[in-house]
Amino acid sequence: MADPIRRRVPYVNLQAQVEEERDELFPLIQETLLRGDHVGGELIGRLEAELAAWMGVRHAVLVNSGTDALMFGLLAAGVGRGDDVITVPNSFIASTAAIVHVGASPVFVDVGPDQNIDIGKIAAAITPKTRAIMPVHLTGRVSEMAAILDIAKAHNLVVIEDAAQSIGSTYQNRLSGTFGDIGCFSLHPLKNLNAVGDGGILVTNRSDVAERVSRLRNHGMADRNTVIEFGFVSRLDTLQAAIVRFRLGRLGSVVERRIRNAALYRERLDRTFVFFPEPRGDAVDTYHTFVIQTDRRNELRAWLEACGVGTAIHYPIPIHLQPAAAKLGYRLGDFPEAERQAGRILTLPINQFLNPEDVAFVCDRVNGFFAGEAR
Ligand SMILES: Cc1ncc(COP(=O)(O)O)c(C=O)c1O
Repeated sequence: MADPIRRRVPYVNLQAQVEEERDELFPLIQETLLRGDHVGGELIGRLEAELAAWMGVRHAVLVNSGTDALMFGLLAAGVGRGDDVITVPNSFIASTAAIVHVGASPVFVDVGPDQNIDIGKIAAAITPKTRAIMPVHLTGRVSEMAAILDIAKAHNLVVIEDAAQSIGSTYQNRLSGTFGDIGCFSLHPLKNLNAVGDGGILVTNRSDVAERVSRLRNHGMADRNTVIEFGFVSRLDTLQAAIVRFRLGRLGSVVERRIRNAALYRERLDRTFVFFPEPRGDAVDTYHTFVIQTDRRNELRAWLEACGVGTAIHYPIPIHLQPAAAKLGYRLGDFPEAERQAGRILTLPINQFLNPEDVAFVCDRVNGFFAGEAR
């Protein structure tokens, strides 16, 4: 391997986020702690109202993770044993895990070149057992929701959007998570809107769903002394709510900087060697991740690491090939596009703390690699 030109370009930089926020964030943390309402504080309801108003939905319910939002959403929509839920095999494991945990069966549909569900393949997967579709808006790019809603309507299916990676993204002027019956978001530290730990949001226009999820997250209690059903402990802490409320006000700036970085990548990366989906005229992607596809992924990744550039792979093993999924009965070859992408995808750093020179450096190293600079 040739001697690399080095520059430190970290894949994530959560310390930089806290540094940027510290003058306002640290006093806010102190103030929130001194309120003493660590669980179930008034800030929870306030943040829920703000999120619902921003997204233009009737209800937002805060829970302890995006995974729980998906699981409670399925439960509240009445999905359970004997039901099939259509989803994709190339998501984070949480989408499928939520389906399995409510007793339903995941039915995978392959993805298109943009890594999102291939709408042309959904109809063939529908059977009398199908109850719901769970599209995943991977990388922050909203799936083709107009077609998905049409299919769902024709077959009377519930739509639960896994919008964990796509907060603030739009498609045909609507925010991700607000198309279907239920939208679920993650507040994990690596997400564009993040807590300093785990957290999740479920949004819905259905009051029955919001009411049930509010109960499920808190032991199934309707009030302090009345338990309607056996539930879970999945509340967002007051401290996390305070931090997320503060960060919600800054989300626009985070997204703007990520979109700028994505535009720089699109401008400078040589498309002869790498593939990445083009933006659509009727959508705004918020770039939770920026993923390129290349046959020489592993070599390129090693070269970028040698050059000081942090990368990731989302995700190297499709869910149907995970040991945990063995019982589902799928095998290698069932989802050729997802499987092909798993060996070709590479997530480049796109966090909001990268400056244009950082992004240019990454592009030059990627282009340089294909021009032979690593030899
Ligand atoms: C696509 C997808 N679905 C679901 C989740 C689950 O979210 P959480 O980690 O908050 O449980 C995540 C994030 O981790 C995700 O990326």
